Amino acid sequence: MSLEKNPSPKPSTPLFLRAAWGEDTERAPLWLMRQAGRYLPEYLAIKAKASFWEMVRTPELAAEVSLQPLRRFPLDAAIIFSDIMTPLPAMGVEIAFSPGPVVADPIRSQTQVEALRVPSSEELAPFLAEALRLTRRELEPQGVPLIGFGGAPLTLATYLIQGAGSKEYEDFRAFLRLEPAATHALLAKLTEVSIRYLRMQVEAGAQAIQLFDSWAGLHDPATYREFALPYNSAILRALEGLGVPRIYLAVGASHLYPVIAELPCEAVSVDWRLGLERIRPQLPGKTLQGNLDPSVLLASREVITREAHKVLRAGLGGAHIFNLGHGVIRTTPPDHVAHLAEVVHSFSRLQEPK
Ligand code: CP3
Repeated sequence: MSLEKNPSPKPSTPLFLRAAWGEDTERAPLWLMRQAGRYLPEYLAIKAKASFWEMVRTPELAAEVSLQPLRRFPLDAAIIFSDIMTPLPAMGVEIAFSPGPVVADPIRSQTQVEALRVPSSEELAPFLAEALRLTRRELEPQGVPLIGFGGAPLTLATYLIQGAGSKEYEDFRAFLRLEPAATHALLAKLTEVSIRYLRMQVEAGAQAIQLFDSWAGLHDPATYREFALPYNSAILRALEGLGVPRIYLAVGASHLYPVIAELPCEAVSVDWRLGLERIRPQLPGKTLQGNLDPSVLLASREVITREAHKVLRAGLGGAHIFNLGHGVIRTTPPDHVAHLAEVVHSFSRLQEPK
């Protein structure tokens, strides 16, 4: 039998991992999506000299950028610096960043899907394995766990078919209706690649895995059930028994929680559109990760304190990892992140909920 839950996390297990495995911890662990990135001057200094792909493909740079936010803030986890698009060039897809992903030749036919390669895990992203090893080595003395990640097939397909970021992704949504067989063939290939890519990250030292399904919320529950649930389940199941908790993220997806509840994962990362107290009954047995609105970090310290306390109180009564509902916004002042860290660290979850 493979392990659904980590049977007995040791007392020395880092807070983030205990909460991810489902423990109602004495304090909420904290990390932030996009904690490394353009709101940090030290990131911009590196970015001035190297392109985004160079940063991702040079293990020393990727490790350095992953560690930057940990030097500033007392975060309870690090996430490896990479992108959800990282495994795709090895499949034969040319991708540029401007600043979001732009696909040179968007996939719009069965022939293009058939031409995609399914590379071995060694070919997929050897630089990422090395970046994970380097980052782990640096984090080990501080006992800070390292998160690996990938994009969910439907979200990767959104970019591959649409070709770039978009508000409504109409071309992608039309393709899904016009060419369901080609879409399924693409999702199946992306699933196999994702399994190899994520297992490789665990072997290289990732201690938790987050599957980003950023655009899942575009779809109605029946469409999600057909084009997302089987593929996400296959990936998450393939990671079962590797000893790492599995976190699934969807954005703008409150209407999908009853389906998401069926995914074989320990934790679900949720956005701010619903309070955690409303979400918890819909995701029984799952750790909740989230869900401060990232725009709150642009407001005053008083507002940050008040809104963070709301999230912390709503997260009581079950396992909770404090995070934003989506990534850090580029114009976020770093000292606001420092303030948020103070607020989260000083909030005891042992107190009576008011
Ligand atoms: O700190 C971290 O969270 C780790 C790094 C990370 C990046 N991308 C770095 C990055 C992670 C976890 C991602 C995942 C990712 N990439 C997602 C899923 C999370 C989400 O936001 O929904 C998605 C959808 C992408 C695709 C992508 N890559 C976009 C939309 C963009 C550009 C716009 C933006 O939000 O910054 C990128 C480029 C990218 N990935 C940057 C960074 C730091 C910006 C590059 C730059 O410095 O110009």
